[in-house]
Amino acid sequence: YPIFAQQWYENPREATGRIVCANCHLANKPVDIEVPQAVLPDTVFEAVVRIPYDMQLKQVLANGKKGALNVGAVLILLEGFELAPPDRISPEMKEKIGNLSFQNYRPTKKNILVIGPVPGKKYSEITFPILSPDPASNKDVHFLKYPIYVGSNKGRGQIYPDGNKSNNTVYNATAAGIVSKIIRKEKGVVDIIPPGLELLVSEGESIKLDQPLTINPNVGGFGQGDAEIVLQDPQRVQGLLFFLASIVFAQIFLVLKKKQFGKVQVSEMNF
Ligand code: HEM
Repeated sequence: YPIFAQQWYENPREATGRIVCANCHLANKPVDIEVPQAVLPDTVFEAVVRIPYDMQLKQVLANGKKGALNVGAVLILLEGFELAPPDRISPEMKEKIGNLSFQNYRPTKKNILVIGPVPGKKYSEITFPILSPDPASNKDVHFLKYPIYVGSNKGRGQIYPDGNKSNNTVYNATAAGIVSKIIRKEKGVVDIIPPGLELLVSEGESIKLDQPLTINPNVGGFGQGDAEIVLQDPQRVQGLLFFLASIVFAQIFLVLKKKQFGKVQVSEMNF
């Protein structure tokens, strides 16, 4: 869960660029992020995170039963960018966001947002409403190109924060030998396999150390991606438009001048 990351990691993005969810969500699954190419200062825009999702998939739940998958995500923006305040979000954007409530990763880290777990069937596409910073009021922000990182996950993790394995992963033999007995839901055997896992071995079978005793039930996984966004200075756009307009007019006036000169030439020939 994102809360595990919030509790255990000061920064969700490690120096290597890896996002920490991957430490417990071991399988790899794709994710896609879409942001505008450029935004103006102090403007609300959407960052859309897509978590491709097969609605038919079921996973092993903590109680051993099968159930639907949930999704979650972490969005890492550069300092200055933050969640858009509700009164600045347009009704169309509100509709896309639905009932999602985003959280800051830390009260002091407003540029990192988390969401989840939420039902994957409903939220395989998550729209984050973001407010861009204004260099005029925030001296640490400049008109530059900024990276955005996203990590998203579907399905349960394989490791709990205390280091224990969840039942959504493979269990391997801790010793070589013969499987003497398989007792469901009882302790006392060397390898205790939690409920819900399909066994690959049977009683009387001889096994090697580290041999998988179960199938890998995990159907979910974690993926990370990134995008870039330009914080655009409106004066630069105006300047460019003015420059382009001046070129258009200059070209038109040159053509007019040529026509005029042509008329003079014609009238000179008539002398
Ligand atoms: C469950 C997302 C970090 C361990 C989940 C679920 C989501 C999720 C959406 C629910 C899945 C479902 O019910 O189908 C994330 C995201 C993370 C993150 C986005 C990073 C921001 C971590 C970390 C750990 C972890 C760091 C380990 C320390 C687990 C485990 C479960 C789980 C063990 C299954 C819990 C249970 O059902 O008993 N996570 N997670 N997650 N996560 Fe994470």
